[in-house]
Amino acid sequence: MTSIQRTAVLTGATSDRGIGITTARRYASQGWGVVILDLDGEKSAKVAADIGNEFNVPAFGHEIDVANEGSVTAAYEAVKKETIAGILPPVGALANIAGITSPVPFLETTLDLWHKVMDVNATGTYLVTKAFLPDMIEAGWGRIVNMSSVSAQRGGGVFGKVPYSAAKAAILGLTKALAREIGATGVTVNAITPGAVDTNIRVGSTDEQEAAINAGIPLGRNATTEEIAAVITFLSSEESAYLTGTTIDINGGSHIH
Ligand SMILES: NC(=O)c1ccc[n+]([C@@H]2O[C@H](COP(=O)([O-])OP(=O)(O)OC[C@H]3O[C@@H](n4cnc5c(N)ncnc54)[C@H](O)[C@@H]3O)[C@@H](O)[C@H]2O)c1
Repeated sequence: MTSIQRTAVLTGATSDRGIGITTARRYASQGWGVVILDLDGEKSAKVAADIGNEFNVPAFGHEIDVANEGSVTAAYEAVKKETIAGILPPVGALANIAGITSPVPFLETTLDLWHKVMDVNATGTYLVTKAFLPDMIEAGWGRIVNMSSVSAQRGGGVFGKVPYSAAKAAILGLTKALAREIGATGVTVNAITPGAVDTNIRVGSTDEQEAAINAGIPLGRNATTEEIAAVITFLSSEESAYLTGTTIDINGGSHIH
């Protein structure tokens, strides 16, 4: 719960069964204003409006391609306009959720695929963080939550293969180094490493692949998107003030270390 009214900015938050939309609803249920940034601007605006109406909070949606610097700048400026006009409260949290995976075996990957997966996951996290961080530093308070994956820690094993594991590992390095660099500013930077979550990201996976995934999880099932959203909003709360540079595992025991 945020006592002062603040806005949470989420990337990758329009997918119907995705982690982002569930997290946006959870932020709103706690009184946060919400900004939805995703590839489809119209859908982003609609998801934001629906959430704003349901929870009676300020909400705004805008298109973004997190891998494109110009698009990130345009999205940031559109959000800034809303905050300056007082339509949205100041941005207090950024959840970098946008991501893509790839199940292609290493020797079948192309350089284009490598760049695409790195660009959306790792470079996207870099660009969006760089855009929204200065205002949080100026305010002296902020929470950044970055979406990594258990794949970064144990070398895939869910669905995504080498480029995905590498990109999600880059996010852990970014998180730790940035947390250290800006520790004194009042802005915390943390990462989460979910295992398998029941969303559309593994569209195309077979029943056998899904059964094999669940067989490797001591809790015997995928996480729900609500279980991921709960940790993201906790890491965005006043109560998480002494957590920075950390990685929170949410994997049902699939990687105990
Ligand atoms: N589902 C899982 O098992 C799982 C596990 C660990 C981590 N994750 C991570 O969680 C995040 C959300 O995944 P999800 O399962 O909800 O998947 P999803 O495919 O349902 O959602 C991903 C969202 O990111 C958006 N997106 C993709 N490319 C983008 C770009 N260039 N710019 C802006 N938005 C873009 C998509 O439009 C979509 O809304 C991803 O980063 C994913 O890697 C998922």
